[in-house]
Amino acid sequence: MIYAANWKLYKTPTETRDFLQKFLSLHPKEKHNEVVVFPTAICLEAAAETLKGSDVRWGAQNCYFEKQGAFTGENSVDTVKSLGGQYILIGHSERRTLFGEMDELLSKKVKFVQDMGLTPMLCIGETLQERESGKTQEVVTRQLRQSLKLMDKQKPLTIAYEPVWAIGTGKVASSEQVAEAHQQVRNVLKELGVEKSPILYGGSVKPQNSTELAKLKNVDGFLIGGASLEVDSFSAICRSLF
Ligand code: PGA
Repeated sequence: MIYAANWKLYKTPTETRDFLQKFLSLHPKEKHNEVVVFPTAICLEAAAETLKGSDVRWGAQNCYFEKQGAFTGENSVDTVKSLGGQYILIGHSERRTLFGEMDELLSKKVKFVQDMGLTPMLCIGETLQERESGKTQEVVTRQLRQSLKLMDKQKPLTIAYEPVWAIGTGKVASSEQVAEAHQQVRNVLKELGVEKSPILYGGSVKPQNSTELAKLKNVDGFLIGGASLEVDSFSAICRSLF
Protein backbone atom coordinates (compact mmCIF):
# COMPACT_ATOMS: atom_id res chain seq x y z
CA MET A 1 0.00 0.00 0.00
CA ILE A 2 1.02 3.60 -0.65
CA TYR A 3 -0.07 6.15 1.95
CA ALA A 4 0.30 9.66 0.60
CA ALA A 5 -0.29 12.88 2.57
CA ASN A 6 -1.44 15.94 0.65
CA TRP A 7 -0.85 18.90 2.94
CA LYS A 8 -2.24 21.47 0.49
CA LEU A 9 -1.55 25.01 1.79
CA TYR A 10 -0.96 23.97 5.40
CA LYS A 11 2.09 23.81 7.71
CA THR A 12 5.14 26.03 8.18
CA PRO A 13 8.70 24.62 7.88
CA THR A 14 8.79 24.20 11.69
CA GLU A 15 5.47 22.35 11.70
CA THR A 16 6.70 20.21 8.81
CA ARG A 17 9.82 19.20 10.77
CA ASP A 18 7.87 18.56 13.97
CA PHE A 19 5.29 16.39 12.19
CA LEU A 20 7.89 14.33 10.34
CA GLN A 21 10.13 13.83 13.38
CA LYS A 22 7.15 12.56 15.36
CA PHE A 23 6.00 10.38 12.47
CA LEU A 24 9.48 8.84 12.09
CA SER A 25 9.65 8.09 15.80
CA LEU A 26 6.37 6.14 15.46
CA HIS A 27 7.31 4.48 12.15
CA PRO A 28 11.07 3.93 12.15
CA LYS A 29 10.86 1.49 9.22
CA GLU A 30 8.10 0.91 6.68
CA LYS A 31 8.76 -2.59 5.44
CA HIS A 32 5.51 -3.33 3.64
CA ASN A 33 4.17 0.12 2.86
CA GLU A 34 5.33 3.20 1.08
CA VAL A 35 4.68 6.56 2.75
CA VAL A 36 4.83 9.78 0.73
CA VAL A 37 4.30 13.37 1.90
CA PHE A 38 3.45 16.36 -0.26
CA PRO A 39 4.26 19.55 1.70
CA THR A 40 3.98 23.06 0.22
CA ALA A 41 6.87 24.00 -2.06
CA ILE A 42 8.34 26.31 0.58
CA CYS A 43 8.52 23.43 3.08
CA LEU A 44 10.16 20.89 0.76
CA GLU A 45 13.66 21.58 2.01
CA ALA A 46 12.56 21.15 5.64
CA ALA A 47 10.95 17.83 4.66
CA ALA A 48 14.03 16.73 2.72
CA GLU A 49 16.34 17.43 5.66
CA THR A 50 14.11 15.72 8.21
CA LEU A 51 13.47 12.65 6.05
CA LYS A 52 17.08 12.12 4.98
CA GLY A 53 18.06 8.47 5.51
CA SER A 54 14.46 7.38 6.22
CA ASP A 55 12.10 5.30 4.07
CA VAL A 56 9.52 8.07 3.84
CA ARG A 57 9.35 9.65 0.40
CA TRP A 58 8.21 13.12 -0.52
CA GLY A 59 7.29 15.27 -3.46
CA ALA A 60 5.77 18.53 -4.68
CA GLN A 61 2.06 19.25 -5.14
CA ASN A 62 2.51 20.73 -8.60
CA CYS A 63 5.20 21.56 -11.15
CA TYR A 64 5.94 23.19 -14.48
CA PHE A 65 6.84 21.19 -17.58
CA GLU A 66 10.14 22.93 -18.35
CA LYS A 67 13.40 22.47 -16.47
CA GLN A 68 14.02 26.19 -15.97
CA GLY A 69 13.32 29.57 -17.54
CA ALA A 70 11.14 32.66 -17.27
CA PHE A 71 8.19 31.00 -15.51
CA THR A 72 7.58 33.18 -12.46
CA GLY A 73 5.97 31.42 -9.54
CA GLU A 74 6.22 27.87 -10.88
CA ASN A 75 7.79 24.82 -9.16
CA SER A 76 10.89 23.30 -10.74
CA VAL A 77 11.02 19.50 -11.01
CA ASP A 78 14.79 19.82 -11.25
CA THR A 79 14.92 21.52 -7.85
CA VAL A 80 12.66 18.88 -6.30
CA LYS A 81 14.91 16.20 -7.76
CA SER A 82 18.10 17.88 -6.53
CA LEU A 83 16.68 17.86 -2.98
CA GLY A 84 15.84 14.15 -3.23
CA GLY A 85 12.11 14.27 -3.97
CA GLN A 86 10.61 11.35 -5.87
CA TYR A 87 7.01 12.27 -6.67
CA ILE A 88 5.03 15.13 -8.18
CA LEU A 89 1.28 15.39 -7.70
CA ILE A 90 -0.36 16.32 -10.99
CA GLY A 91 -3.87 17.55 -11.74
CA HIS A 92 -5.33 17.52 -8.24
CA SER A 93 -8.97 18.60 -8.51
CA GLU A 94 -8.10 21.90 -6.78
CA ARG A 95 -5.57 22.58 -9.54
CA ARG A 96 -8.16 21.69 -12.15
CA THR A 97 -11.04 23.73 -10.73
CA LEU A 98 -9.33 26.67 -8.97
CA PHE A 99 -6.39 27.11 -11.34
CA GLY A 100 -7.93 25.99 -14.62
CA GLU A 101 -5.55 23.12 -15.36
CA MET A 102 -6.76 20.97 -18.24
CA ASP A 103 -5.83 17.47 -19.41
CA GLU A 104 -3.78 18.90 -22.29
CA LEU A 105 -1.48 20.74 -19.86
CA LEU A 106 -1.42 17.81 -17.44
CA SER A 107 -0.24 15.46 -20.18
CA LYS A 108 2.86 17.65 -20.65
CA LYS A 109 3.51 17.61 -16.92
CA VAL A 110 3.20 13.81 -16.73
CA LYS A 111 5.69 13.43 -19.56
CA PHE A 112 8.14 15.95 -18.14
CA VAL A 113 8.10 14.46 -14.64
CA GLN A 114 8.76 11.00 -16.10
CA ASP A 115 11.52 12.36 -18.35
CA MET A 116 13.16 13.88 -15.26
CA GLY A 117 13.11 10.48 -13.53
CA LEU A 118 10.43 11.25 -10.92
CA THR A 119 7.04 9.57 -10.51
CA PRO A 120 3.91 11.52 -11.48
CA MET A 121 0.91 10.91 -9.21
CA LEU A 122 -1.93 11.85 -11.55
CA CYS A 123 -5.26 12.75 -9.91
CA ILE A 124 -8.56 12.11 -11.65
CA GLY A 125 -12.19 12.05 -10.54
CA GLU A 126 -15.72 13.15 -11.34
CA THR A 127 -17.82 15.97 -9.87
CA LEU A 128 -21.10 15.29 -8.09
CA GLN A 129 -23.06 16.48 -11.12
CA GLU A 130 -21.11 14.13 -13.39
CA ARG A 131 -21.73 11.20 -11.03
CA GLU A 132 -25.42 11.97 -10.70
CA SER A 133 -25.82 12.12 -14.45
CA GLY A 134 -24.16 8.72 -14.83
CA LYS A 135 -20.97 10.07 -16.40
CA THR A 136 -18.35 8.80 -13.94
CA GLN A 137 -16.88 6.20 -16.24
CA GLU A 138 -16.86 8.55 -19.21
CA VAL A 139 -15.11 11.35 -17.26
CA VAL A 140 -12.50 9.12 -15.68
CA THR A 141 -11.75 7.44 -19.01
CA ARG A 142 -11.38 10.76 -20.79
CA GLN A 143 -9.13 12.20 -18.06
CA LEU A 144 -6.87 9.15 -18.16
CA ARG A 145 -6.64 8.93 -21.94
CA GLN A 146 -5.94 12.62 -22.39
CA SER A 147 -3.63 13.22 -19.43
CA LEU A 148 -1.59 10.11 -20.21
CA LYS A 149 -1.32 10.56 -23.94
CA LEU A 150 2.37 11.64 -23.80
CA MET A 151 3.45 9.26 -21.03
CA ASP A 152 6.31 6.79 -21.22
CA LYS A 153 4.81 3.35 -20.56
CA GLN A 154 8.13 2.02 -19.30
CA LYS A 155 8.44 4.61 -16.53
CA PRO A 156 6.77 4.70 -13.10
CA LEU A 157 3.30 6.22 -12.85
CA THR A 158 0.79 6.39 -9.99
CA ILE A 159 -2.90 7.28 -10.26
CA ALA A 160 -5.09 8.79 -7.54
CA TYR A 161 -8.85 8.38 -8.08
CA GLU A 162 -10.50 11.16 -6.09
CA PRO A 163 -14.21 11.83 -6.61
CA VAL A 164 -14.40 15.63 -6.33
CA TRP A 165 -17.56 15.46 -4.18
CA ALA A 166 -15.69 13.40 -1.56
CA ILE A 167 -12.70 15.74 -1.20
CA GLY A 168 -12.72 17.66 2.06
CA THR A 169 -16.46 17.11 2.49
CA GLY A 170 -16.52 14.19 4.92
CA LYS A 171 -18.57 12.31 2.31
CA VAL A 172 -16.50 9.25 1.63
CA ALA A 173 -17.44 7.16 -1.39
CA SER A 174 -18.99 3.82 -0.48
CA SER A 175 -16.97 0.63 -0.84
CA GLU A 176 -19.10 -0.29 -3.87
CA GLN A 177 -18.48 3.07 -5.53
CA VAL A 178 -14.74 2.88 -4.87
CA ALA A 179 -14.49 -0.73 -6.07
CA GLU A 180 -16.43 0.03 -9.25
CA ALA A 181 -14.45 3.18 -10.11
CA HIS A 182 -11.09 1.51 -9.41
CA GLN A 183 -12.04 -1.39 -11.66
CA GLN A 184 -12.89 1.09 -14.42
CA VAL A 185 -9.59 2.90 -13.90
CA ARG A 186 -7.74 -0.43 -14.02
CA ASN A 187 -9.47 -1.30 -17.29
CA VAL A 188 -8.43 1.98 -18.91
CA LEU A 189 -4.87 1.59 -17.63
CA LYS A 190 -4.84 -1.86 -19.21
CA GLU A 191 -6.04 -0.46 -22.52
CA LEU A 192 -3.23 2.14 -22.31
CA GLY A 193 -0.60 -0.50 -21.52
CA VAL A 194 0.13 0.56 -17.93
CA GLU A 195 -2.13 -1.72 -15.93
CA LYS A 196 0.45 -2.32 -13.19
CA SER A 197 0.38 1.32 -12.08
CA PRO A 198 -0.86 1.66 -8.48
CA ILE A 199 -4.30 3.25 -8.04
CA LEU A 200 -4.81 5.26 -4.84
CA TYR A 201 -8.19 6.33 -3.51
CA GLY A 202 -8.65 9.86 -2.14
CA GLY A 203 -11.59 11.76 -0.65
CA SER A 204 -12.33 11.98 3.09
CA VAL A 205 -10.16 8.99 4.01
CA LYS A 206 -10.08 8.74 7.82
CA PRO A 207 -8.87 6.13 10.34
CA GLN A 208 -12.56 5.12 10.70
CA ASN A 209 -12.99 4.12 7.04
CA SER A 210 -9.49 3.30 5.84
CA THR A 211 -9.39 -0.38 6.82
CA GLU A 212 -12.53 -1.27 4.89
CA LEU A 213 -11.38 0.67 1.82
CA ALA A 214 -7.83 -0.71 2.00
CA LYS A 215 -9.13 -4.26 1.62
CA LEU A 216 -10.83 -3.56 -1.70
CA LYS A 217 -9.46 -5.04 -4.88
CA ASN A 218 -7.60 -2.48 -6.99
CA VAL A 219 -7.11 -0.08 -4.06
CA ASP A 220 -3.33 0.18 -3.80
CA GLY A 221 -3.17 3.07 -1.38
CA PHE A 222 -4.67 6.40 -0.31
CA LEU A 223 -4.15 10.08 -0.99
CA ILE A 224 -5.14 11.79 2.24
CA GLY A 225 -5.83 15.48 2.81
CA GLY A 226 -7.43 16.58 6.10
CA ALA A 227 -6.63 13.44 8.08
CA SER A 228 -2.95 13.63 7.08
CA LEU A 229 -2.41 16.92 8.92
CA GLU A 230 -2.28 15.29 12.37
CA VAL A 231 0.37 12.68 13.09
CA ASP A 232 -2.03 10.47 15.03
CA SER A 233 -4.67 10.17 12.32
CA PHE A 234 -2.16 9.83 9.46
CA SER A 235 -0.27 7.24 11.44
CA ALA A 236 -3.46 5.28 12.14
CA ILE A 237 -4.32 5.28 8.41
CA CYS A 238 -0.80 4.01 7.63
CA ARG A 239 -1.70 1.03 9.85
CA SER A 240 -4.97 0.28 8.02
CA LEU A 241 -4.00 -3.28 7.21
CA PHE A 242 -2.39 -4.30 10.51
P1 PGA B 1 -9.43 14.97 1.97
O1 PGA B 1 -8.52 15.46 0.72
O2 PGA B 1 -8.79 13.72 2.50
O3 PGA B 1 -9.36 16.12 2.94
O4 PGA B 1 -10.79 14.73 1.44
C1 PGA B 1 -8.04 14.55 -0.22
C2 PGA B 1 -7.26 15.27 -1.29
O5 PGA B 1 -7.60 16.42 -1.60
O6 PGA B 1 -6.29 14.74 -1.84
